[in-house]
Amino acid sequence: MNRRQVLAAGVLTAGFASTPLLRATSRAAAPAEPFSVRMPVPPVLRPAARLPGCAIYHLTMREAPVEILPGRHTTVRTFDGSFPGPTIRARRGETVIVRQTNKLDVPAAVHLHGGHVEPQHDGHPMDVIAPGDSRTYVYPNRQRAAALWYHDHAHHLEAENVYRGLAGLYLLTDPEEERLGLPRGEYELPLLLRGANLAEDGTLIYDATDVQGPDHGTTLVNGRPTPYLPVAARRYRFRIANVSSGHAYVLKLRDGSEMIQIGTDGGLLPEPVRTGAVSVWSAERADVVIDFSRYPVGSRVYLDNTALFGGETRDVLRFDVVREARDDSRVPERLVPLEDLGPAATTRTFALSFDLATGRYLINGAVFDPDRVDARPRLGVPEIWEITNSDTRIPIPHTFHTHLEQFRILDRNGVAPPAAERGRKDTLTVHPGETVRIKVRFSTYTGRYVFHCHMLEHSAHAMMGQLQIEP
Ligand code: C2O
Ligand code: CU
Ligand code: CU
Repeated sequence: MNRRQVLAAGVLTAGFASTPLLRATSRAAAPAEPFSVRMPVPPVLRPAARLPGCAIYHLTMREAPVEILPGRHTTVRTFDGSFPGPTIRARRGETVIVRQTNKLDVPAAVHLHGGHVEPQHDGHPMDVIAPGDSRTYVYPNRQRAAALWYHDHAHHLEAENVYRGLAGLYLLTDPEEERLGLPRGEYELPLLLRGANLAEDGTLIYDATDVQGPDHGTTLVNGRPTPYLPVAARRYRFRIANVSSGHAYVLKLRDGSEMIQIGTDGGLLPEPVRTGAVSVWSAERADVVIDFSRYPVGSRVYLDNTALFGGETRDVLRFDVVREARDDSRVPERLVPLEDLGPAATTRTFALSFDLATGRYLINGAVFDPDRVDARPRLGVPEIWEITNSDTRIPIPHTFHTHLEQFRILDRNGVAPPAAERGRKDTLTVHPGETVRIKVRFSTYTGRYVFHCHMLEHSAHAMMGQLQIEP
């Protein structure tokens, strides 16, 4: 292999090792004892000002030292010094305005993943904030309650910027969700999952040529390695987001108990799904209720990742059941109905592939060209997209994400998707040789948006295309 191929091989392994043939890896020499630090919760960002129907926030992107490994300092790229970024809480119908100031020495573009926003506020990869500049993004929040997330999207830099810390959660709520009586307050917690390659001294290593993928090594939950979380013996709601570059997490409780998945990328599912395994690939979200009332106080309950690669241990998080608590939360049998998008008028096909000869990642045979439009959907007209992963010779999974809209997964290789995927989705996995059909209807805004593989090493290598939504 020439240098380019080696480089490419390095960035494709995320794929390699997380194919259905999961390999158990040996315990890595992790610098931190598992379950030795308490799981933090990212701070909720306070508005700089509130106006009727609108909250204004200020965030500064800057380098900051944080403690990831106990007793060590790690310099990361942050929003306001927080790793991961602070959580923004929003309400449907109330506008959020975020003024972002870039005090890093690299350009950045802030994208609200899953957000239904105007193109000039979408953080298009070419529409960057230069070092020293500021810019204001407007999020109208005219969409259903969902766990969105914000992250850097500067073309070619997004993989490293997100790896170094530029990611945070954005929890949008609405009355429909609040009415359900789900666990809330201290019983509703974010779990931002990712991998990190950390040196003994705490240095965060970014090596795009690493054959195991740049983010292998230590599993971080909300920025700390395999932490523990004291819980009460009652129901909790976990807002899980995979903010890693290329990692897959297939989460199971070690004792085999069930979890209740109530939501996915674009918000609540039509009905709860009782399951032993919750799967989140890069950029996907899962809304999961775990009922700890079945455990006596004193129990330790382990959450494992069963999709291992790159030397991680299965350890993700340990719940320590430390007390009894009242629980008046519920998980109703009906959550939020799924609206019908209507009959599709157009079908488009997208083939995702890796070209070993050039080391490039392609969609329909091409890399991203900001001056090219790859599809021109009409506003309000439903479309079917057939997305095929053509990488069967070297089996590399890909993910697929479109900006602006939540879609529905119709089928995978002609078979209806699993129950947890029968909701509003903005990101999906496509396994080697698989074809996934989705239905999407772009609404409200015309203009230019991107779609791409969300394995960030792939999108940074231009596995991305452009939409022009036409009136
Ligand atoms: Cu998470 Cu183009 O986005
Ligand atoms: Cu997005
Ligand atoms: Cu990909």
